[in-house]
Amino acid sequence: MILVFPDVDAVADYVSDTLYTQIRSRPPMTLGLATGGTMEPIYQYFIDKVKAGNLDVSQLSIFNLDEYVGLDANHPQSYAAYMKARLFEHLPFNLQNCHVPDGKAALDANYCQQYSTQIQRHGGIDFQLLGVGGNGHIGFNEPGTPFDSRCHIVELAPRTRLDNSRFFAPGELVPAHAITMGIQDIMEAREILLVATGPKKASTMKKFVDHGITEQVPFTVLKRHPATTIVLDEAAAQALPPASYQRIYT
Ligand code: F6R
Repeated sequence: MILVFPDVDAVADYVSDTLYTQIRSRPPMTLGLATGGTMEPIYQYFIDKVKAGNLDVSQLSIFNLDEYVGLDANHPQSYAAYMKARLFEHLPFNLQNCHVPDGKAALDANYCQQYSTQIQRHGGIDFQLLGVGGNGHIGFNEPGTPFDSRCHIVELAPRTRLDNSRFFAPGELVPAHAITMGIQDIMEAREILLVATGPKKASTMKKFVDHGITEQVPFTVLKRHPATTIVLDEAAAQALPPASYQRIYT
């Protein structure tokens, strides 16, 4: 199901409401979370709603999708630092249960496998939030990643490094490798919500509609998932045939 909202604010309002409702209905749930520009307004809206509604987030377990290999949690461009600044430090989470892959330990033997196993030991992910890369990646599963992959180290595609260079200081190199939950880890989530906003995602979304299910466009695998919703703003939906989505007026 593809839902289209007028703008980024309407998307953030809807997605943060969905998160809020999920957590309120089963407080000890396990969430899978993403980073990136798309998630920033969503986390801002979510923080405000949790504070306004006094929602208990202390029983949540969180597993983030990915991290750059080689960056430690204090590096300003690490995803651990992103999560701390944009979400974790704003609400009373139990930080013992908030997991971001460790970019320093990522290359240790067994680390990746342990991350996947840890998710399974928690009973799997109840609700997975995803963004999508310009090339269709989910997590950092770049085009060509096998659909049966578990947590692993990837070499980032040139397009991904270019897209993400906007978060780094001028002249600072985007790491060449990342650790990411695998596509199978993601697909085992009971429910998935993928968000794409802005005109740069219009051609990405067109690929989703035009292609069948192919490892060359990783997020097409979501067509196989029984409970996936895709949420877009008008800009990201502009190249889609109107019959392929439902427009939500707010
Ligand atoms: C990040 C992640 C990535 C991003 C994707 C889109 O944790 O999993 O797949 O969701 O690269 O990034 P933005 O939102 O910056 O366009």
